[in-house]
This record gives sequence, structure tokens and C-alpha cells, in this order.
Amino acid sequence: MDSIVILGSGGMLGSDVVSAFSARGCPVADFDQPAWDITRHESRQEAIAAGDVIINCAAYTDVDGAESNQQLATAVNGEAVGELGLLAAAAGRRVVHFSTDFVFDGTKENPYSEDDAPCPISVYGHSKLLGESMLAASGCDYLTVRLQWTYGQHGENFFTRLLKWAETRDVLQVVDDQVGSPTATVDVAATICELVEKNAGGTFHYAASGYGSRHEIAAFAMATLAPSCKVEPCSSDAFKATAPRPRNSRFDCRKADEILNQPRPHWQEPLATFLETLK
Ligand SMILES: NC(=O)c1ccc[n+]([C@@H]2O[C@H](COP(=O)([O-])OP(=O)(O)OC[C@H]3O[C@@H](n4cnc5c(N)ncnc54)[C@H](OP(=O)(O)O)[C@@H]3O)[C@@H](O)[C@H]2O)c1
Repeated sequence: MDSIVILGSGGMLGSDVVSAFSARGCPVADFDQPAWDITRHESRQEAIAAGDVIINCAAYTDVDGAESNQQLATAVNGEAVGELGLLAAAAGRRVVHFSTDFVFDGTKENPYSEDDAPCPISVYGHSKLLGESMLAASGCDYLTVRLQWTYGQHGENFFTRLLKWAETRDVLQVVDDQVGSPTATVDVAATICELVEKNAGGTFHYAASGYGSRHEIAAFAMATLAPSCKVEPCSSDAFKATAPRPRNSRFDCRKADEILNQPRPHWQEPLATFLETLK
């Protein structure tokens, strides 16, 4: 059985990836800040020496913060991932890495497939694309899984933020011109176990099935979390964020569907389960 190394193991996704591999009886070594830093060469060497498959959940994930911290975002999400790939290539290790819908500009009419040309519109998107490209060019055996709109028990996400806003407001305005699929990190983690077991390589898109606008998804969530709170639609133009967001975050996941044993769940099913834990 391959031994698994999980980087960024205390993050929202990393925590569920650790649990999923541990539950399957895989030997797991895990690393995270502050003791371990992916931008340090010695840390990367330590990770490569610790097992066969290196799963990189470490990332600079503050999308708005990246606009004024370009150097750090690029170092963590870009250069460090490329350097990890070079060490993995030299040592014969596999690297599993995560990327994002932010590598696209969101102007496509249809869902994005793995073959669509990336075109990021934010510093975060650029930094994540750099990591993807440097990893692919490193010569190691790699799997990059692009995710979008993830949520889980171990981190701040769209739903924990909605709940916080609802504590002080009776009406929430939520954009109705950004469309995607909220995706549970527990489902991502189970999928990664399967993809690793099946030796999948290259780039994959993964999200829950079905799509909704942020407004539709927020209305679905608030019906469970705070039914008395009204959820009104607004446009992205009326709700200016520091970093621009892609309007279309929809993924075409047919490539993943061809290898996965189970059909991907519709976004409402795992979300309903998660919302119960927030009540
Ligand atoms: N959340 C989403 O909606 C979403 C969507 C698409 C793709 N993704 C991708 O999914 C992956 C996992 O993200 P996540 O949601 O789990 O984010 P997260 O909760 O922010 O986890 C990231 C982890 O990386 C750690 N980290 C940050 N800088 C580091 C460094 N220099 N060295 C070592 N560790 C470092 C963080 O530590 P600290 O907590 O101490 O900073 C944290 O434990 C990322 O590649 C992200 O780009 C996420």
C-alpha cells in the first residue's frame, strides 16, 4: 500500500483528506504551518522523503488578500508547487495537487472542461495557474484536480459566512450572476482516495452535479439555517469585491465521471447534510 503525505493537513480540505486516507488504513504523514512551510526548500525535501504519494492541500487561499499580497500568493501557490514537482520527479514520487475555477475568466457560455484554455482574472487565479503549469512541467507523475465552491467542517466557507451575516441582518443580498456547484470537501476527499488508487494522472475537474447561482444556493441554505432571513438577488456590479470573480464557475466533469465508481451527488444532498451540522 502506498504511504500518503498530506500537506496543508489542518486546512478545510486537508483535514478531510487526512481522515479519508486514515479511515482506509493508509499510512499517513501530515504537515502544515507554522512548523512546516511549503515555501522552504527543507520543508519540501522533508515532505518528499516522508512517503510515496504527496497530496498538496497547502495553499494561500485568501482570494481578496492575494490582490495586495501577490508575492506571497505566487510563492505558495506557484513557485513552491513547481519546486515540489521537481523534487518529486527526482525521487520518483507522485504529486496530487488542487487548483480552482479561478484559472478561468468565467465568460464561457457552457461549463468549462479540462481542455479549455485558462485565462485568470485575479492574482489568486494567476498564482494557482502558475502552480498547475510548473507542476505539469516538472516531469513528475502528477494529478491536478480543479475544485470550486468547496465547504467543509474545518474552515470558513460560503455557508459559515452566510450564517454570520444572518446574525445581524434580516435581509441578505446575494449575487445571482455567479453560477457554480457547492462541493463538499468530504466528497472531494473520497474522490481523491479513488483517483489515487486508480493511478489517475493529468488534470481533472471535480464538483457536485447540478448548478445554481450564489443567490439560489444561499436561499436553499437559509431555508434551513435561518428561515426568517430574506435572501434577495443582486448583481456582482452592485457588490464589489476586491478581486474579480468568474461569473461562470460551472465545470464539465465528464472526465472524472468516466473513472469514478459512483455518480457525483447533486449539490443539494451533501449540502443539506452539512447545513444540519451548522444549526
Ligand atoms: N475553498 C474553496 O472554495 C476552493 C475552491 C477551489 C479550489 N480550492 C483549492 O483547494 C485547496 C485546499 O484549500 P482549502 O479550502 O482547504 O484552504 P484552507 O482551508 O485555507 O487550507 C489551506 C492550508 O494550507 C496552509 N498553508 C498556507 N500557506 C502555507 C505555507 N506557506 N506552507 C504550508 N502550509 C500553508 C494553511 O495554513 P493556515 O490556515 O495556517 O494559513 C491551511 O492549513 C487549495 O489548493 C485551494 O486553492 C479551494
